[in-house]
Amino acid sequence: MDFKRNILITGGAGFIGSHVVRLFVRKYPEYHIINLDKLTYAGNLANLADIEQAPNYTFVKADICDFEVICELFRKYHIDGVIHLAAESHVDRSIKDPFTFARTNVMGTLSLLQAAKVAWEGAYDGKRFYHISTDEVYGALKLTHPEGVPAPFTTKASSNDDMAYGTEFFVETTKYNPHSPYSASKASSDHFVRAFHDTFGLPTIVTNCSNNYGPYQFPEKLIPLFINNIRHNKPLPVYGKGENVRDWLYVEDHARAIDLIFHEGRIAETYNIGGFNEWKNIDLIKVIIKTVDRLLGNPEGQSEKLITYVTDRLGHDMRYAIDSRKLQSELGWEPSLQFEEGIEKTVKWYLDNQEWLDQVTSGDYQRYYERMYGDK
Ligand code: NAD
Ligand code: DAU
Repeated sequence: MDFKRNILITGGAGFIGSHVVRLFVRKYPEYHIINLDKLTYAGNLANLADIEQAPNYTFVKADICDFEVICELFRKYHIDGVIHLAAESHVDRSIKDPFTFARTNVMGTLSLLQAAKVAWEGAYDGKRFYHISTDEVYGALKLTHPEGVPAPFTTKASSNDDMAYGTEFFVETTKYNPHSPYSASKASSDHFVRAFHDTFGLPTIVTNCSNNYGPYQFPEKLIPLFINNIRHNKPLPVYGKGENVRDWLYVEDHARAIDLIFHEGRIAETYNIGGFNEWKNIDLIKVIIKTVDRLLGNPEGQSEKLITYVTDRLGHDMRYAIDSRKLQSELGWEPSLQFEEGIEKTVKWYLDNQEWLDQVTSGDYQRYYERMYGDK
């Protein structure tokens, strides 16, 4: 079958990747979507069960660090676009095992860049290498207004009474200042992507997004972990005093931004993606508790007793806050969901999909896919 485009999406079996793959497979039947994923603990093909039979979808189990395999994929599928999401993504794991992060995030990205360069041989017309990065590369912002003040600019999806917890925001020109091994590895990969544009003319784009939430997120991250723990009446480990601030975006809004930027973003540009939606961890945790208790029919606030303050994460960044006005004004993107709607949908999804949660917490899905695809 002849396709209009052949797009390699890496990390498509993970949280954000699965939403991006689903969006592209459904929205663009004229594109061939090749999902390359190593299926680490974070990759789960059950996330894509609804589209796995689509005629324009192919899954390939591979490691982005395996340069020869990647080169072969470029040749075999005539890849003309890359959307690169594959990464080790959890800060706490990077503190325990930084080598895996350097390997996948830095060397893996380099391997993809080099494979694209070799395959495209300077014939860059219509080609695109889109690298998905994070706001964590910018470092941490100060909490200058601990109680919050009205945000200087908002969108219809802003929430939490449009609060900002400081006057500074990350813009596309903010100097990189990563603090964790995770963010240092992502920063390094961003530099390699830009270097391949500046040195070889590779048609690259980088985006830096704030914290995502929604269905299919691995329950080591704050929101799904806490929903699952409340359901099982387990302690909710709040790092430090719970005062750190994160800027939350519903994952499908990120996927829509990726679609728009892949098609209409300007080559060599950086776009920040975020919904102007800052929450102090402890306030967010209370919203989660309230929502889960209500949906489970528990008395209001019953699960607040599960809050357990624990030793802080090493090097814990205080505040992230993205200024996404460039993306909004240049490409007309804006988040579609109010935070309350997003949280309600998310909590409902995890409560309705206990089987998915049980599988990923037990590792059963990995044993199943090892049998199917081998354990390499
Ligand atoms: P995730 O951990 O849920 O998924 C990562 C995926 O990459 C998994 O499917 C995993 O199997 C795959 N993978 C890991 N190592 C691989 C390798 N060596 N070769 C091939 N595949 C490999 O991550 P996520 O939260 O979906 O994040 C996706 C991307 O978005 C990452 O690059 C991350 O840095 C970035 N990002 C995440 C967030 C967030 O809030 N989750 C925010 C901004 C940016
Ligand atoms: O900002 C974008 C980043 O968001 C992405 O690049 C990362 O891949 C993604 O994991 C996320 O990083 P965070 O470290 O912000 O997410 P996490 O869910 O791990 O933690 C959110 C906040 O909650 C953070 O301040 C730490 C705190 N926390 C987290 C966990 C897991 C707790 O207090 N207790 C917990 O058990």
